[in-house]
Amino acid sequence: MKFATRALHAGIVPDPTTGAIMTPIYQTSTYVQEAPGQHKGYAYARGQNPTRDVLQKNLASLENAKHALCFSSGMGATDAVIKLLNPGDEVLCTDDLYGGTFRLFSKVLEKFGLVFRYIPMTDTRNIEKHITPKTRLLWLETPTNPLMNIIDIGAAVQLAKTKNIMVVVDNTFASPYLQNPLDMGADIVLHSATKYIGGHSDVVMGALAMNNDKVYEDLKFIQNSSGAVPGPQDCFLALRGIKTLHLRMERHCANAKVIASFLKNHSKVDNVYYPGLPDHPNHDVAKKQMRDFGGMISFTLKGDRMEEAVKVMSSTELFSLAESLGGVESLIGHPASMTHASIPREQRLANGLKDTLIRLSVGVEDVDDLVADLDQAIGVATAVGKSHPVTSM
Ligand SMILES: Cc1ncc(COP(=O)(O)O)c(C=O)c1O
Repeated sequence: MKFATRALHAGIVPDPTTGAIMTPIYQTSTYVQEAPGQHKGYAYARGQNPTRDVLQKNLASLENAKHALCFSSGMGATDAVIKLLNPGDEVLCTDDLYGGTFRLFSKVLEKFGLVFRYIPMTDTRNIEKHITPKTRLLWLETPTNPLMNIIDIGAAVQLAKTKNIMVVVDNTFASPYLQNPLDMGADIVLHSATKYIGGHSDVVMGALAMNNDKVYEDLKFIQNSSGAVPGPQDCFLALRGIKTLHLRMERHCANAKVIASFLKNHSKVDNVYYPGLPDHPNHDVAKKQMRDFGGMISFTLKGDRMEEAVKVMSSTELFSLAESLGGVESLIGHPASMTHASIPREQRLANGLKDTLIRLSVGVEDVDDLVADLDQAIGVATAVGKSHPVTSM
């Protein structure tokens, strides 16, 4: 079956007791047993829940995976993956990545004897240079958050396989509609399902997908043992969101293309970070491994003045100033003080993440209205423009 059909039907059957077409929300913590250990496959809801089971089957299908597991958040899913490792093991991560992932690795997990190193990954030779006998995992985000770098998944996998290293791809920005890393040989795909998968800014959730049975069993064991599981109502909301994932992604991508080109041609805009632009340094890799270029764009203004960037972010009317991304409504954000504030400023700047960078999550509104909104906000901001130097926030 093609993606759109799987989005609506994979793993989903009418409720056997009533025929309800929508998957019921099994709001229960436990299940009655006929005799000790004799039950219908459901013993306690941290371990198993029928609403979650349906979502997991559906998500596995969307990622062309044998298995999927859902978690209470993207960070819960990330935490579970790292618990596969042992003290002393090393993880090589892309240097441009979600600030919360950096925070979990550096502030929570490092003290358990794990080593995380952050390196540019757009050139696979650089990954190779940093591999040591202790490297167990490559942690890829592609497109990266917020600089929209593209990492060649196939090339990273080829390198990792020769050294018995697992490859994890955070596929949040692309969604399963645009990119399926397991098809390129990755071992685990991760999603913040809070974003495009849920799609309506009403749920926080994480998901993992994988083919290997042992990796699945180990992660399922961690899911139940550590307990970062999503509630059944959230699973229902994610299932409902997925039914339009393909439609939403098409509109996100179409709108983002128009906005990227509007920004690119705007006299006050300096850099535009969008993998769909032909002059994006990794455009060819994006074309090879993605079916389209997604709905996320970052940009800076000419002159690089902090006050102008702040003014743009507080002058938009349709783009709401908020953390998160991937919902139907357009959002505007300031990575340096919001999503990526937990990365030390020097490290951010060294990775190319300027204080003045503005990030857009392009929604599914009418694109003319979105362009007009950005145009007026940039106009208001740059008309004020006094030339103050960039300062730290
Ligand atoms: C790329 C990426 N990965 C993971 C996460 C974490 O997901 P969650 O907020 O669902 O815990 C985020 C959140 O913004 C993200 O942008």
